Amino acid sequence: MHDHEISTKFTVFDSSKELSIAEQKLLETAIAIRDSAYAPYSGFLVGASVLMQNGDVFSGNNQENAAYPSGICAERVAIWSAMAALPKGRIKKIFISARSEKTLVDRPVAPCGACRQAIAEYETKQDENIEIFFTGETGKIVKANSIKDLLPWMFDNSMLS
Ligand code: THU
Repeated sequence: MHDHEISTKFTVFDSSKELSIAEQKLLETAIAIRDSAYAPYSGFLVGASVLMQNGDVFSGNNQENAAYPSGICAERVAIWSAMAALPKGRIKKIFISARSEKTLVDRPVAPCGACRQAIAEYETKQDENIEIFFTGETGKIVKANSIKDLLPWMFDNSMLS
């Protein structure tokens, strides 16, 4: 028997002013689209922006449905619109911001497991890290340098062979 440990790394920014100007703009893009989310059931609005290697920026927000499981998260709307437009494109960075109509979200909101799996797919495909930044409505911003730091021991295509 052997015990093992996986440790992961992340960086915490106290405010968006600590980000580069380009990163601040990407976060602002995520915030702007967050506030157009269609989230009448949860009142939880999420926005995401995606920076591609060629400089293009895509964004998305959560889209809910009266049949709850038919809804979709902001991250996957943004990522899939990027990959639909640029099938050979590579994702450099993803920014996520969340707010609630019920309460102040003053802590970083991490992407859900399904969105982490979607990010993992493209990081594996492109074999280049994707930086992931996430925050609430106010408060700190967390940055992970790779999906591997948010989804250790992930399932990927290597496990299919
Ligand atoms: N949501 C996202 O858009 N991204 C996440 O990573 C977590 C959750 C959405 C889904 C649903 O519309 C609402 O937030 C509440 O779960």
